[in-house]
Amino acid sequence: MALSIYPVPMVLTRDRLAADLRRLGIQPGDVLMVHSSLRSLGHVVGGAPTVVDALLQVLGPTGTLVGPSFNYETAQEPGFVFDPRNTPSDMGAVADEIRRRAGNLRSRHLTHSVSAIGRQAETIVTAPGKTAWAADSPLGMVFELDGRFLLLGVTYQSFTAFHLLEVAFRLHHRKLDTLRRRLRRPDGAVVPFESIVYLRDVGYPGYDFNRLGQAMEDAGLTSVAPVGNAIARLIPARSMRDFATPRVQRDPDYLLQQGSGVTPLTCGDTLMLPGGVISVVDPGGVFQAPRP
Ligand SMILES: CC(C)(COP(=O)(O)OP(=O)(O)OC[C@H]1O[C@@H](n2cnc3c(N)ncnc32)[C@H](O)[C@@H]1OP(=O)(O)O)[C@@H](O)C(=O)NCCC(=O)NCCS
Repeated sequence: MALSIYPVPMVLTRDRLAADLRRLGIQPGDVLMVHSSLRSLGHVVGGAPTVVDALLQVLGPTGTLVGPSFNYETAQEPGFVFDPRNTPSDMGAVADEIRRRAGNLRSRHLTHSVSAIGRQAETIVTAPGKTAWAADSPLGMVFELDGRFLLLGVTYQSFTAFHLLEVAFRLHHRKLDTLRRRLRRPDGAVVPFESIVYLRDVGYPGYDFNRLGQAMEDAGLTSVAPVGNAIARLIPARSMRDFATPRVQRDPDYLLQQGSGVTPLTCGDTLMLPGGVISVVDPGGVFQAPRP
């Protein structure tokens, strides 16, 4: 469904972004984890820092902003040293801006750390979970704290929290492994460090998280609205788990692709760009770098 009736602004300021985020339903005091595409929004004055400013403005001093600081590709290099203060997030410009501002408030995991800013930041990043997708992991804490997830211009295929369901319900297509690399401690010392990671098992067909996401949208569980030119989706963590539980219990393959790719989303336009998949109001409103 195209939302071409929505007037996409030419340029987005912090206040305009904040107004759209409030209209979507984000409230002061929320615990909010964000997966995002900057270019989907259109032209943001000041780029990723402005988006983070807008999110923090809406969340206010009692809120908490969480970003994925995942770096699973760089962590594959045998000489990789995980430096919580400096290893970039590979999850986009907004995620990396959250990581930069969070400083040391980043969980210790070689491939799937998260960074957090605000009242519950320390509780989240120090959650003890042995794996990144355990119930007592930093991501699990977003559920524990009754938080919400924001997909900002991306589809449910970027919704990491669905991986927690795969693990919680022991869906059969994941296996555990231990990744051994090194960690730079705050005092500068580099020490051996290992993390448990989930690998895809033989025959894993790829996941179709859009299927569950679209079902949640159809049931009115997800709040969907434009933020600039991005389609934004706001999902309450616990309601999502309650909604998903009977479905994955009934069908352990519920989150897997069934042979014909992933389920199309009915709201907005889904675009496959070289850098990733984005979800927008108007393909013409996607940010384009000025030609030299
Ligand atoms: C991969 C992904 C990050 C790519 O999105 P993207 O918008 O192309 O990239 P970023 O968010 O990093 O933003 C950088 C882009 O914003 C654009 N940009 C630059 N300045 C901008 C501005 N002022 N305003 C708006 N866009 C701007 C540029 O196109 C830039 O790309 P370039 O550096 O190649 O020129 C995104 O599709 C995605 O999947 N995000 C979710 C990741 C995630 O959390 N996954 C969970 C684990 S599965």
